[in-house]
Amino acid sequence: MRIGILGSGLMGGRLGVVLARAGNQVVFSYSHSRQKLEQLAREAGGKARAGTPAEAGRGADVLLLAVHWSRVDEVLGQAGSLSGKVLLTCSLPMSEDDTHMVIGHTISGAEALAAKVSRTHVVSAFSTVPSEVLFPVFERRKKEKPPDLVYCGDNEGAKDTAAGLIRDAGFNPVDIGPLSMARYVEPFSLLVAQIAYNGSDGPEIAYWFERFLKLES
Ligand SMILES: NC(=O)c1ccc[n+]([C@@H]2O[C@H](COP(=O)([O-])OP(=O)(O)OC[C@H]3O[C@@H](n4cnc5c(N)ncnc54)[C@H](OP(=O)(O)O)[C@@H]3O)[C@@H](O)[C@H]2O)c1
Repeated sequence: MRIGILGSGLMGGRLGVVLARAGNQVVFSYSHSRQKLEQLAREAGGKARAGTPAEAGRGADVLLLAVHWSRVDEVLGQAGSLSGKVLLTCSLPMSEDDTHMVIGHTISGAEALAAKVSRTHVVSAFSTVPSEVLFPVFERRKKEKPPDLVYCGDNEGAKDTAAGLIRDAGFNPVDIGPLSMARYVEPFSLLVAQIAYNGSDGPEIAYWFERFLKLES
């Protein structure tokens, strides 16, 4: 899969490295530092490279949007037409100072994003885990039970692509339905962040959903 990373910070940088190591072709873009993008490409190995958002968009099957909400319009503007492509988003609709969500309840950030990019298949994924857990999960893949990772979207083909990348990253994809489910995903992501960053045991956390069978009476 050819993947363009739009936003090569904590999430985009680490997910890009993991997905490249899983065998995908990755272009890292959108950082203040070209050197950082090149360093990420070296770290990722294989055919990974640094580029501009336009270069990341060109020829990509999938774009990963991993920027602060305030930078979404700018980076999409630089990426050019994304028509027909899959746009995976882990970006949360946070205020400038990251203290609260600026969108919620009746619409989600992912749906607002989909309204900006017509004919692009938006899938919400990866926002529910902190960046710090990405490398540990990837390193343990195929050895231990994978943690779950919820995703949602309105296009089945795009969701199949997303599920493959979620597996590549070492998680078990859990399809929770249409993109409107991002209204629940985004606050859940903040709950996970609260546990990750305000607990005392460190941010390297992921989650499982256990189904408990009914006991025979
Ligand atoms: N971090 C997490 O654990 C986590 C978890 C779930 C969801 N999220 C969401 O994922 C998204 C990304 O979060 P993050 O923590 O990865 O953010 P981040 O580390 O700040 O990464 C953002 C990237 O955008 C680049 N950027 C910002 N402004 C720019 C500009 N004017 N020109 C060029 N590049 C610019 C940054 O450049 P530099 O490389 O120069 O810094 C960086 O590469 C956010 O919406 C966040 O809410 C994050």
